[in-house]
Amino acid sequence: MSKQFDVIVIGGGPGGYIAAIRAAQLGMNVACIDEWKNAAGGPAPGGTCTNVGCIPSKALLQSSEHFEQANHHFADHGISLKDVKMDVAKMIGRKDSVVKQNNDGILYLLKKNKVTFFHGRGSFVKAAEGGYEIKVAGKTEESLTGKQIILATGSNARALPGVPFDEETVLSNDGALRIGAVPKKLALIGSGVIGLEMGSVWRRLGAEVTILEGLPTFLGAVDEQIAKEAKKAFDKQGLKIELGVKVGEVKTSKKGVAIAYTNAKGEAQTLEADKLIVSIGRVPNTIGLNAEAVGLKLGERGDILVDADCKTNLPGVWAVGDVVRGPMLAHKAEEEGVAVAERIAGQHGHVNFNTVPWVIYTSPEIAWVGRTEQQLKADGVAYKAGTFPFLANGRARALGDTTGMVKFLADAKTDEILGVHIVGPMASELIAEAVVAMEFRASAEDIARICHAHPSLSEATKEAALAVDKRTLNF
Ligand code: FAD
Ligand code: NAI
Repeated sequence: MSKQFDVIVIGGGPGGYIAAIRAAQLGMNVACIDEWKNAAGGPAPGGTCTNVGCIPSKALLQSSEHFEQANHHFADHGISLKDVKMDVAKMIGRKDSVVKQNNDGILYLLKKNKVTFFHGRGSFVKAAEGGYEIKVAGKTEESLTGKQIILATGSNARALPGVPFDEETVLSNDGALRIGAVPKKLALIGSGVIGLEMGSVWRRLGAEVTILEGLPTFLGAVDEQIAKEAKKAFDKQGLKIELGVKVGEVKTSKKGVAIAYTNAKGEAQTLEADKLIVSIGRVPNTIGLNAEAVGLKLGERGDILVDADCKTNLPGVWAVGDVVRGPMLAHKAEEEGVAVAERIAGQHGHVNFNTVPWVIYTSPEIAWVGRTEQQLKADGVAYKAGTFPFLANGRARALGDTTGMVKFLADAKTDEILGVHIVGPMASELIAEAVVAMEFRASAEDIARICHAHPSLSEATKEAALAVDKRTLNF
C-alpha cells in the first residue's frame, strides 16, 4: 500500500529540506527523501552543502586561518608562540563533527515540522491518479504517492575527460576536504570558487600550491578592479595561479601526479604534485531518478528544464537548486525551495535573481551583488562608481587587516544602486547591507545618509556610498 503525501521532496540538501519545511509550515503533509549516508551508513541530510561543500569547507578555512594568524600575525599583537603545530587529523575530526551537528540539526528540524523523512534513493515509478508514484530504495523499499513532487537532487563535481576521481591522488571537493596530511606540493585545476578556497586552506597549512586556470582572465565574473586587488593579495601570500593554460595529459603514479599543460606563452610544461584537486565546475545530478519513466525533460547539461517559476514540463513536478539553471549556491537553492512551496500553497513565491549575493571565503574575502562595471559597460548603462579602501577604516586598522575596498556602482541619473563589490575583511557579512539596499531599490545617497556604528567595517560601506558623490569624509 502506497503512503500518500501532498508533497514529496526528492533530495535533502538546502533546496530540498527547506522546501519540505516551508511546505509543512503551510499545512501540507510532506515527505522528504535523501540518500546521503554518513560513515556509519546512517542518514546525513543537508546534501553537498552540509556534507562536502559550504559547511566543511568553511570549517577548514577557519582552522587554517587560525594557524596562519598564529604563525604570521599574532607577533604583531605582542603574542609570541613557539613551535606552532597543526594536527591535521584533529582539524579534520573537528570539521566532521561540525558536519554531524548540521546533519542532526536538519533531522531535528524535519521532525519538528512533521516532515516524514525517508533515507534512500527516490525514483519515479509512474504518473498515478492525481499525482506520481515514487519508490524509495533504502534499507527497505517503500512506495509513496505525492500530489506534488519537488526535485532537489543537486550536482556532482565535473571530472576532466579521461581523468576519473580516485579521491586519493585526483580529488573532487569530497577528497579535498579530507586530505589526511599536508601535501608538500598540491596542484589544482580551475581557479574558481573551490580552487581558491581549497587552495587557500592547504597553502596556509604549508603546502606549495599551484592552480592552473584555463581562462586568460582571473575571476572573470567578478568586477575587474576587485579581482585585480584579490589577485595581488593571493600573489603576496604565495598562492601560485597560472592563467590561460591548456591542460593536457594527467598521469598518476604511486608518487603522485604529473600534469602536462601548455602555458599562456604556448610553452609545454609539466607540473608535478603529490595530489591534484580538480575544481572545474559542477554538473547537475539526476542519476537514479528514473526521469524517463514519466517523460521529465532534461537539458543538454543534464539539468532539469524549468521555467522562471521552477515548473518542469510535467504538471505538479517542480525542480530547484543546483539541478536547474542559475548559480549553484545554497542560498539560491533555499530561496527557490521556499518559493515553490509557497506557489504550491497558492501564494506568490518569488526569487529575485538580481540580488543573489556571491561570496568567496578566501582571505581577503570577496563578495558582491548586482552588476559589475564591465557588465554595466556592456549593457550600455550610464553609471557612477565610488570606492573606499579598508586602509582608511579605523576598525580594519585595529583588526590588522586593511587589504581591499568597498565599491559602489550607481545609476548616473537616478543614483539607484546597481552593484556592490567588496574585497576585504568580513566581506561575507558586509554584503548583506548591500543586498537589503538593492532589494529596497535604495540609492547610494540612502546608504550614505544612514548612521553606521563606529568603529566598524561597515563604515567603509557608507564611505564608498559617499564616494559615488565624491564626498568621502575619511579619505
Ligand atoms: P545538494 O546540496 O547537492 O543536495 C542534493 C541532495 O539530494 C543530496 O543529499 C543527494 O544525496 C540527494 N539526492 C540526489 N538524488 C537523489 C535521489 N534520487 N534520491 C534521494 N536523494 C537524492 N554554496 C554557497 O552558497 N556557499 C558556499 O560557501 C558554498 N561552498 C561550497 C563549497 C564546496 C566545496 C562545494 C562543492 C559547493 C559549495 N557551495 C556553496 C554550493 C552548494 O553546496 C550548492 O549550491 C548547494 O548544496 C545546492 O543545494 P541543492 O539542494 O540543490 O543540492
Ligand atoms: P567554478 O565555476 O567556480 O570555477 C571553475 C574554474 O575552472 C573556472 O575558472 C574555469 O574557467 C576553470 N576551468 C574549467 N575547465 C577547465 C580546464 N579544463 N582547465 C583549466 N581550467 C578550467 O567551479 P568550482 O570552483 O568547481 O565550483 C563549483 C561551484 O560550486 C561554483 O560555481 C559555485 O557555484 C559553488 N561553490 C560556491 C562556493 C561559495 O559560494 N563560496 C564555494 C565553492 C563552490
